[in-house]
Amino acid sequence: MSETKTALVTGANKGIGYEIAAGLGRLGYRVGVGARDATRREAAVEKLRADGVDAFGVPLDVTDDRSVTAAADLVDRLAGRLDALVNNAGIPGGMGPGWLQEPTALDLDVVRTVVDTNVLGVVRVTNAMLPLLRRSASPRIVNVSSSVGSLARQADPDVEVGPVMAAYAPSKSFLNALTLQYARQFAGTGVLINAACPGLVATDFTGFFGSRTAAQGAATPIRLATLPDGGPTGCFFEDDGVVPW
Ligand SMILES: NC(=O)c1ccc[n+]([C@@H]2O[C@H](COP(=O)([O-])OP(=O)(O)OC[C@H]3O[C@@H](n4cnc5c(N)ncnc54)[C@H](OP(=O)(O)O)[C@@H]3O)[C@@H](O)[C@H]2O)c1
Repeated sequence: MSETKTALVTGANKGIGYEIAAGLGRLGYRVGVGARDATRREAAVEKLRADGVDAFGVPLDVTDDRSVTAAADLVDRLAGRLDALVNNAGIPGGMGPGWLQEPTALDLDVVRTVVDTNVLGVVRVTNAMLPLLRRSASPRIVNVSSSVGSLARQADPDVEVGPVMAAYAPSKSFLNALTLQYARQFAGTGVLINAACPGLVATDFTGFFGSRTAAQGAATPIRLATLPDGGPTGCFFEDDGVVPW
């Protein structure tokens, strides 16, 4: 089995995903840059290579079954296995003024698109990549979630969780619940799967609002993608520790 580990990061052309790819590359991983737009993908691959990362482009739209199947075929041809999958691609969905998504005015098409990307996209990609992950001695899966999906924090009036976001926040709660189901199924197999919150990061996603850089947001996902054998699974982490579900 090749010594070089291979990782795939979805939505890696910019923001936190790009920095996760860069960070894993600096740790010696060969990195698949999953991205749906060819121009943005190739620009990211070139930039990573210029920084010394062994990067390759993976055309990948997480909402498209055929794209996901083709991505798994490509990773199989180029690497033969996958050691880490970081499900990072995500969207907030249309927001009203003040970044509000009020449940009483919810556009169901927005909900469908957000769930298709943030939840079903993770299932599509994870299940397509699983045969490749199972060829690794230490497979790791990281689902990039958000603490705004923490039901415990939302139910606590003393915790500030930001604006009402009736499409985005429940999509991350759904993703967290799925992470646990995967962890239960993978128990005892050596596949470790965890959810990560990057914190409030200044990216396109937030309109560059947020005190954290994309590189800071990438730290917890990178740590979870590189966990040692016997590390935690079925957990939800941020930089400061465990996030309550
Ligand atoms: N920024 C924050 O404060 C924050 C906080 C908590 C959690 N998060 C989570 O962190 C992750 C990354 O967010 P970010 O802030 O880095 O956002 P970003 O800069 O907007 O990047 C999002 C990435 O996801 C990709 N993407 C969206 N839909 C896709 C699809 N259908 N198929 C493939 N790729 C798709 C985008 O590709 P395109 O360039 O093609 O659109 C882009 O590469 C998301 O899951 C988000 O929910 C972010």
